[in-house]
Amino acid sequence: MRIAVVGSGYVGLVAAACFAELGHEVISIDNDTSKIEMLQRGEVPIHEEFLPELLQRHRGKQLQFSSELPEAVRKSQAIFIAVGTPSTVHGDADLSYVEQVSREVAGAIDGYKIVVEKSTVPVFTSHWIRRVMLLDGADADSFDVASNPEFLREGTAVGDFLYPDRIVVGADTERCATLLRQIYEPLTSGEYYNRADIIPNTTKAKTPPQIIVTSTKSAELIKHASNAFLATKISFINAVANICEAVGADIKEVCQGIGTDSRIGTRFLNPGIGYGGSCFPKDLKAFSSVARETGYDFRLLQEVMSINADQRARFLRKVRSALWTLKGKKLAVLGLAFKGGTDDIRESPAIEIVRSLLKEGCEIRAFDPAACDRSREVLTEDGICYKASAYEAAHQADAMLILTDWPEFAQLDLPRLKTVMTYPIIIDGRNLYDPRTMAAAGFIYSSVGRADVQTPVARTNGKAEKTATAAPGKNQ
Ligand code: UGA
Repeated sequence: MRIAVVGSGYVGLVAAACFAELGHEVISIDNDTSKIEMLQRGEVPIHEEFLPELLQRHRGKQLQFSSELPEAVRKSQAIFIAVGTPSTVHGDADLSYVEQVSREVAGAIDGYKIVVEKSTVPVFTSHWIRRVMLLDGADADSFDVASNPEFLREGTAVGDFLYPDRIVVGADTERCATLLRQIYEPLTSGEYYNRADIIPNTTKAKTPPQIIVTSTKSAELIKHASNAFLATKISFINAVANICEAVGADIKEVCQGIGTDSRIGTRFLNPGIGYGGSCFPKDLKAFSSVARETGYDFRLLQEVMSINADQRARFLRKVRSALWTLKGKKLAVLGLAFKGGTDDIRESPAIEIVRSLLKEGCEIRAFDPAACDRSREVLTEDGICYKASAYEAAHQADAMLILTDWPEFAQLDLPRLKTVMTYPIIIDGRNLYDPRTMAAAGFIYSSVGRADVQTPVARTNGKAEKTATAAPGKNQ
């Protein structure tokens, strides 16, 4: 199948590379010519596992890059729209880029094609796309509009695309549904998984995936409802973690106890400093706004968002209660990305926390394996410097904060860390360590939904000596 993917951000670029991997002829379009030139030169603009391999494998063959949308439309049978849908000031999705692309597609259509929403869009968007395309002169029989939401996570996007739990196709005509089924057939038939050179299955999803064909409106709702449900799960467990802290219970044990009920499941039950990223915060606002427009007040989502915001404030209170005063304190910060495995800092709770600490007069020494360059662009305040490793960040630090769940942060050399830090205090917003391990290693350790490790500290000759004990935490 000849496919055009409009927009070469996280979703568009990954989709384009993966469609090429499935054997389709793909043109990846972006109006940012410098990005297209970069991709044509073989550079990879985002940090995403297996993406460099796929681009290397297919660039200049199955996969072309271009800024010429009309030409790509004429050459393709399916046009996927994967442009940004940021939040407006009112919280609903700004669909102006989707509209602009739809109009350009309408002007170039020269035979039956399907126009497929891949970006996360509110219900009724397919209806609006069809309307503007008709108004812009496209013949009613020359196209169908479909919704094919993407469920990929940043950091594991290629794996999620090639090994999905399910593929959702919202199509209102059989002709359109048939074309979309053909596009995904290498996955749904299992043919892709029998090839010798496939990208390995790191997501543990069962193969082959099922394809769920629905109306376009249902598919649009499936995407928003999925993200809203996952965010609800996170806020729910954060709320339970807060109760654990108040009563001295252990959230890890509680999660095991509830997550083993197969109706609940253990995934997305990790408490922390709240969800961030380019999807959940934006999509919850947009879904809430869609509900309001339909006359339904989705109060649950308001509460999910409010618990999420509180979680960051609670973490800051923990920092304060561990350090007493903040002004002039030297803090090692591990992690700036909104989660491990990505260089994305959009809506990152870590960035927000760092900003608050800088305002309080702290000196921040930050390390992130991938997100330092991007952070430099947004954290322009004085008082922050970037280090090349966790140990460099920890050098002479009064405390260390763990803000992103990079796997390497869970494997620090604790004795070495203790030697380089001024005080052995760690406040872990991602629960990467067992409090008992930290107690044994002599750290004062505070995490989320678990007992604090309180360690009496006596300073002798510039070295801290201590006896560690795990004690029920009162972080408020
Ligand atoms: C999310 C969804 O997981 C994808 O299915 C969806 O396709 C994507 O949004 C999207 O709409 O494009 P992503 O934003 O990449 O993917 O990140 P997640 O892995 O979902 O994490 C989101 C946030 O929740 C992160 O800040 C993460 O640290 C936090 N989180 C996640 C928790 O605090 N606890 C958890 O148990 C899981």
